[in-house]
Amino acid sequence: MIEQIDPATGRLRHLLTLEGLPAEIYQELFARAEGFLDEAGDRVKRNDRLAGRLMVNAFFEPSTRTSLSFEIAARSLGADVVNFDVRNSSARKKDETVADTLGVISHLGADLIVMRHPGNLLDELGDVHSERVRFINGGDGSHAHPSQGLLDVWTVHRELGGVEGLQVAIIGDILHSRVARSTARAFTTLGASVRAVGPPELMPDQAEMERLGMRGCADLEDALRGADIVICLRIQFERIASAVELDSGKFISSYRIDSQRLELAAADALLLHPGPMHRGIEITSEVADGPRSRIFTQVANGVAMRMALMDLLLG
Ligand code: NCD
Repeated sequence: MIEQIDPATGRLRHLLTLEGLPAEIYQELFARAEGFLDEAGDRVKRNDRLAGRLMVNAFFEPSTRTSLSFEIAARSLGADVVNFDVRNSSARKKDETVADTLGVISHLGADLIVMRHPGNLLDELGDVHSERVRFINGGDGSHAHPSQGLLDVWTVHRELGGVEGLQVAIIGDILHSRVARSTARAFTTLGASVRAVGPPELMPDQAEMERLGMRGCADLEDALRGADIVICLRIQFERIASAVELDSGKFISSYRIDSQRLELAAADALLLHPGPMHRGIEITSEVADGPRSRIFTQVANGVAMRMALMDLLLG
């Protein structure tokens, strides 16, 4: 099992999960990410801090924004980038283990490997052969998506000057969402409270909700009332067992966030969504493109946050 924090120095070596990540590391990442944004705050400042270093995106599952965001972040730091679609590789077809595939990439010269995987990366990594390489989990199964959690919490921190004491409501398919898990952990680590609601068949059981530090709400109104931050999630149809019958019409009538429902939240509440959005299903275009939405700010901030992460791990 690889340790994400070096026990001797307390420094971050890998980013696999936000579980157990101390608040000081968030603050350090916020400061670095801030330094990578331009004056207007909507584009990153390009530099050569990682010139000569090699980042490999090793994706065992498809991705658009996460792989693009990591690639753009790495290039903005002057690093070389290789994108490897492992799904279509002979390594997969010949049943090489994930740990061996990553060991090969590392011995080919990667300094950093960003991985996305449909299963549990912590299990898959095992005792991967490499001392030098750094790993970032770019999303694994329904477990963790730590860079998304970091960019979500930083987006709110930038907008409001901090997150302590905020009430965060996460709405939608919580059960299958790695974003819900990592984002909830990010907010609770920094002192916010997190509540969640979704169709009963898309909610984790009570024990898991407690472990995740989220309060389950009876209905949408209970979740939204007074919330400072509203986070909408897509229904992860590709992860839903065929046995679970899902009625989109029912979901829309009970959980879709529209401008009327958003009125239940605090007067200056902000609206987030990790994407991809299903406009008209979990969110209406009116609110997605409305004044409270920070959905595209999240995307822009994601590049600076990922630069901060790479800089921290390799710098
Ligand atoms: C999410 C993911 O893949 O976990 N997207 C993302 O990375 N921003 C959320 C999703 O697929 O619904």
